[in-house]
Amino acid sequence: MGGKLWGGRFNTGTDERADSFNASIHFDKRLFREDIEGSRAYCKMLGKQGMISKDESTAILNALEEIHREIERGELKFDESLEDIHTHIENALIEKIGPLGEKLHTGRSRNDQIALDTRLSVRNSITKIIHLINKFQVSLIELAERNHDLIIPGYTHLQRAQPVLLAHHLLAYYEMLKRDTSRYEEALRRTNVLPLGSAALAGATLNMDREFLCRELQMQGITANSMDAVSDRDFMVEFIFASALLMMHLSRLCEELIIWSTQEFDFIEISDAFATGSSIMPQKKNPDIPELVRGKTGRVYGNLISLLTTMKGLPLAYNKDMQEDKEPLLDTADTVEKSLAILSPLLKEITFKKETIKKAVEQGYLVATDLADYLVTKGMTFRQAHHLVGDMILSAQKNNKELHQLDLAEMKRFSPLIDDGVYGWLDPSLCIERRNIHGGTGSEAVRKALNHAREELRS
Ligand code: ARG
Repeated sequence: MGGKLWGGRFNTGTDERADSFNASIHFDKRLFREDIEGSRAYCKMLGKQGMISKDESTAILNALEEIHREIERGELKFDESLEDIHTHIENALIEKIGPLGEKLHTGRSRNDQIALDTRLSVRNSITKIIHLINKFQVSLIELAERNHDLIIPGYTHLQRAQPVLLAHHLLAYYEMLKRDTSRYEEALRRTNVLPLGSAALAGATLNMDREFLCRELQMQGITANSMDAVSDRDFMVEFIFASALLMMHLSRLCEELIIWSTQEFDFIEISDAFATGSSIMPQKKNPDIPELVRGKTGRVYGNLISLLTTMKGLPLAYNKDMQEDKEPLLDTADTVEKSLAILSPLLKEITFKKETIKKAVEQGYLVATDLADYLVTKGMTFRQAHHLVGDMILSAQKNNKELHQLDLAEMKRFSPLIDDGVYGWLDPSLCIERRNIHGGTGSEAVRKALNHAREELRS
């Protein structure tokens, strides 16, 4: 029973197997910084409210500082019989300063304590992730700028559709990531709220100053209902959801990198530093890293469903089921951070194979829509023009030709409206130039979008 935070009402100690099953220390030890940060603020508050003396407060703060260093150096021994990080730290405190250490938990429960620790942890993760997203966006923009006039085939249904600038394609991901950042910022607003003072579920008695704690921990508000505060895990769900969506975006980009690096596409070369080989096939160069990011996306989805499922049947207020929140939460933070951190440098070292890409842009009638637009300028309805261009393509295909390879006489057989101005509509770079509409792939529009992105990233 020694070291447990409870025991008064128990006649016998716990079975070792129950201790082991109950313990969360093997994963919640990662929250030691947050736990100590919360305890330091709590100690100051107790001092300020006169519940402990100034000297006592200083002694506790110093001991917490020491414990922090000891854990960082790996000197604190973790033991399943001490269940969780809160118990370990309180025990270490009592070992250091005796019965004074027992005063720290006055008016506090592990229920509001863990709610605080995890909120602080999510707050830290969000700050880190927003920074990593920013770096990743810079890599995207740099890649776009380095290849600013490269035209690639744009796809729908994974069939060549229309020419687009590579920069435009990459900026699509910039936009997705921008929304991710704002989702994290929103989640942070609801995360950065102080639950301390809620105690086990009904709110603390004694004379606690929650506003002081809120300021001390730099939180943006205090929770309004103690029962909600100790059983709310919405902030975690939101964090994992924002992460799942971010991972979906990364996964889509990775899927493109994987496809583009196939021999079938042959659009890009991933740097040797970020690719791997095969143990049996000497010729292989595999895109393991993008594949793994794509794979890990599933894992974050799993974390989201796991937490939602844990929560869905829980009556108010705290239930031990909620201890199951930590692993999906921390795993999500790790996965997102690692994925962003590896993709940024990988992206920087991608080379585009301009010759194969050029061929791909020129084959497959990607300019057909523009030819129809041209006929519209000559007075046809778009439906007529669409049909007529379809006929032209059918005939060009039979003769193994692209549209620009048809001579004017051949073209005129389809419509007398066609004159030699038509060739200006069949050049992919001119197709791009016609799309300087806001949000379009025209080079001027894309240059503006790049500048705008640069400015956003600076601010
Ligand atoms: N390890 C617990 C958790 O993660 C801390 C809160 C424990 N509270 C309790 N009443 N047993 O949820």
